[in-house]
Amino acid sequence: MATLIDGKAIAKLIESETLDDISRLRNAHGIAPGLAVVLVGNDPASKVYVGMKGKTSLRLGMTSVTETRPADVEENELLALVTQLNHEPTIHGILVQLPLPKHIDTHKIIDTIDPKKDVDGLHPQNIGLLCAGRPRFIPCTPYGVVELLIRSKVSPRGKEVVVLGRSNLVGRPVANLLSSKTKYGDATVTVCHSRSSSLPEICRRADILISAIGQKKYVTADYIKPGAVVIDVGIHRLSEEEGGGLCGDVDFQSVAEVASMITPVPGGVGPMTIAMLMRNTVDAALRSVSGF
Ligand code: GUN
Repeated sequence: MATLIDGKAIAKLIESETLDDISRLRNAHGIAPGLAVVLVGNDPASKVYVGMKGKTSLRLGMTSVTETRPADVEENELLALVTQLNHEPTIHGILVQLPLPKHIDTHKIIDTIDPKKDVDGLHPQNIGLLCAGRPRFIPCTPYGVVELLIRSKVSPRGKEVVVLGRSNLVGRPVANLLSSKTKYGDATVTVCHSRSSSLPEICRRADILISAIGQKKYVTADYIKPGAVVIDVGIHRLSEEEGGGLCGDVDFQSVAEVASMITPVPGGVGPMTIAMLMRNTVDAALRSVSGF
């Protein structure tokens, strides 16, 4: 039976380190890091995530601003809001919750965020810096995944890592980090996805398997090399007929029989994503007082 990787406990540890920097900013510079989150529309999951981001910011003594707009907001109004937040000196980090409604050009919105306030790490300048091996803001979920590994004493160095999923939010940046010449990297990384042939066979090569494919219980025991470390980025709500509650991309019961370590859902990657968002926001504030 696999050991659980306790994302909640590791996130708490990172929060306490972040709190030390927040105290230093307050004592030495008289400022509180400020995070603005923009929520468009009524997606229930997005509302929950945005609520958690605001609550965590306040709990750590940060300034929290949540800007909500209706689903039919005009693109120009959203662009003006982001520009206004770019110029607001008490705001060090800006996050626009995704997905946005179809009539909004998501790229246009992300490209408008000041790259020095882009704590989500999604602006092309920040993606470019990450790809060039000089990360400024690492996107929060990939950052959480690599911190989970390192702090669980699982070094990616020299390992076969398979990343299931190729999204800009998770798959691509996490693969980039894990193959980089940094403490998070030095792995041999394969990126695969729903169109890959022989998925189970490719996944069975992995010493470390990272699933971000966005399908309920997709990864079963036959995808896992005995003793592999499994990181489950997925989070899905189960219907009443399915037994209710939450599950990940990984069929936890069967996979935990074969893996050596595994993240639970909830309580694995989820809390880490928020902890790393706080870390990035505090880093943005630290850079703002040091003149970037
Ligand atoms: N929606 C789901 N995950 C994320 C994330 O990490 N950032 C943003 N902006 N939206 C999301």
